[in-house]
Amino acid sequence: MNKTSLLCFLAVPMLFSQCDNSPKQESISSVIERGLAVSTEQALLMARELGDQEGRLPKTTAKDGTLETSDYSWWCSGFFPGELWYLYENNPSPELKKYAEMYTSRLEDVKHITYSHDVGFMLYCSYGNGYRLTQNPDYVDVMVTGANSLITRYNTQVGLIRSWDFNKDKWQYPVIIDNMMNLEFLVWASRITNDPEYLNIALSHADKTKEHHFRSDYSCYHVVSYDTITAEPHIKQTHQGFADESAWTRGQAWALYGYAMMARETGKKEYLDLAKNIAAYLMNHPAMPEDKVPYWDFDAPDIPHAKRDASAAAIIASALLDLSLQDKELGKTYQAYAADQIRSLTSPAYLAEPGTNNYFALMHSTGHLPGNSEVDVPLSYADYYYVEALMRLKNILGNS
Ligand code: GLY
Repeated sequence: MNKTSLLCFLAVPMLFSQCDNSPKQESISSVIERGLAVSTEQALLMARELGDQEGRLPKTTAKDGTLETSDYSWWCSGFFPGELWYLYENNPSPELKKYAEMYTSRLEDVKHITYSHDVGFMLYCSYGNGYRLTQNPDYVDVMVTGANSLITRYNTQVGLIRSWDFNKDKWQYPVIIDNMMNLEFLVWASRITNDPEYLNIALSHADKTKEHHFRSDYSCYHVVSYDTITAEPHIKQTHQGFADESAWTRGQAWALYGYAMMARETGKKEYLDLAKNIAAYLMNHPAMPEDKVPYWDFDAPDIPHAKRDASAAAIIASALLDLSLQDKELGKTYQAYAADQIRSLTSPAYLAEPGTNNYFALMHSTGHLPGNSEVDVPLSYADYYYVEALMRLKNILGNS
């Protein structure tokens, strides 16, 4: 027996990992810093690349492998400016601030959009984060105008914000679970204006969604369409998932995030209880892979070969971290699960090498598989929620 083997043989178990050949696990703080460093590098490359392309914002990688962009009117327009604001919060450099402001200003016309429910996603991620960090009063005007546009889509009889205007032959009044994500913007609007109307709309929307979107196992439908006379659902189905009765993964992620956020904002126990039940559904799901980056649909027929959705993992991680601060008993469990997801996303399996991946940070998200659109690609919202999750965990660890 040579000297090292002898030492290992005699060593107390605590030292064993230093003696076997398994690599020591990187600390979670180092994982977070690495994730933020790569995200910053990629976001700056992206910001410089699109700087001269007036009005353009990053979206995804197109089928031919090139960068696909959008103008302000695509539902994802706010994610890149929002990501830049988070990265600026982490590292307040003049260049990050310049680009965060520049890309945020590309969204100003969103404030007049009344044809879609996504105004909350668009303006709260971009202008909302910008206002949180700079208190720029000009941002308030844009956001309050935008909130007024968004609530034109609220129907008092139905008690919900209408999501989509297409497929009118089929859906009388479609509401998708994603719409929960627009409510934080309305809660903010009530606070800043002292007008309870926005909050009341958000509460009504959250209450009715809680009543009608969920199944007994706490998974949810993607689309619920309401009868405009009875205000009761007349159709429950999917649009981006595998089947009407399947659990489309990003929909479950939006639900978790939406109710964790509404519980935080309102202190209402019924929202917290629902968020905890959704979290349990996701964390204990037999189809959740070992690395905790879910397949695009929990009922995809080709599991374990089904495509993953890194965006859903990032949204779930961020939501679990929010939830962890609201529940003493399970807080550590939620944090540990989110940390595992962040560790996976920050591994070479999902995190791009700087300079590659069309300058997005994460690979392997799925936008709309049944529509053969955005399958196994980077997506601007995957990067946004990934950076948000990194920042949330960094703050939690810094304060503990
Ligand atoms: N809100 C659209 C999506 O999640 O794909």
